[in-house]
Amino acid sequence: MADRSLALKIGIVGYGHLGQFLVERIQREGPEVGLQLAFVWNRNSDKLKDSVPKELIVDNLLDITHRDTDVIVEVCHPQIVKEFGVRFLSHAHFLVGSPSALSDPQLEQELRTAAKQHSKTLYVPSGALWGGQDIQRMNDNGTLRALSIRMSKHPSCFRLTGGLLSDWTEGEGRRVLYHGSVAKLCPIAPNNVNTMAAAAIAASTLGFCGVTGEIVSDTALADYHIVEVEVTGPDGFSVKTVRQNPAKLGAVTGNATYNSFWSSLLVCKGHGGRVFLC
Ligand SMILES: NC(=O)c1ccc[n+]([C@@H]2O[C@H](COP(=O)([O-])OP(=O)(O)OC[C@H]3O[C@@H](n4cnc5c(N)ncnc54)[C@H](O)[C@@H]3O)[C@@H](O)[C@H]2O)c1
Repeated sequence: MADRSLALKIGIVGYGHLGQFLVERIQREGPEVGLQLAFVWNRNSDKLKDSVPKELIVDNLLDITHRDTDVIVEVCHPQIVKEFGVRFLSHAHFLVGSPSALSDPQLEQELRTAAKQHSKTLYVPSGALWGGQDIQRMNDNGTLRALSIRMSKHPSCFRLTGGLLSDWTEGEGRRVLYHGSVAKLCPIAPNNVNTMAAAAIAASTLGFCGVTGEIVSDTALADYHIVEVEVTGPDGFSVKTVRQNPAKLGAVTGNATYNSFWSSLLVCKGHGGRVFLC
């Protein structure tokens, strides 16, 4: 068992699927892996009463600066990243669960600046992205030429704005919903593109405008999501990966992504004032 006084203090912002998963797992396994809860916030705090000790519930996000916290984890909504991200980074390292928020170039710049200014790390979880560290390495050594990501899911697993998929019928098969820049895709599918956003942040020389995203609805995918990544480098270099992510019908997030998120949290021990894919 880890020394409790050395445990990283984790604040969780949001108590939906991912927030509940993380809170339960920190409560269950935290002592073994050196994590403890600093606080939990949800816009409706009634939801927390039965599962979170009263002294750890925060009612107002502006009050978190009074909490001794090492890492703040946002698992809520891109809007919270926009409103509070800079404040979070002034206080603690920040694991951003909704990285699609960074498709707003001004916000991305503000967060990068805040991380540098306060010597805190802005962590971006790799989610369902395979090979993110390799993409980041190619980006950093100037050999990344192009990057495209296709996500295919059952139509019940998409949450799209503008009624883009309101007319689907069981058995209709495959339908390409969008193909283009990840920058334009993020506002259309904010809950479905975190993996692509993580890739665009790793590939900062291409950025959200230069990384290509495609989303495909496929009624044959009742048991899993598929994530395909194609990376292009110089002189004919290329890598293609296909990830099959088991997922229930209607689930936005594949089962393996929850475990991936937990693994990402375990990395958040401080990597200086910068953005770090984990
Ligand atoms: N990076 C990844 O790999 C990854 C994986 C899964 C989910 N996510 C993202 O993490 C976030 C949480 O995912 P989830 O599956 O737990 O979602 P969820 O819908 O189950 O929970 C979201 C929670 O945030 C609250 N909420 C929603 N909009 C809000 C707003 N504008 N202001 C305040 N609270 C708000 C909801 O009430 C709910 O408690 C989402 O943005 C999702 O896109 C990222």
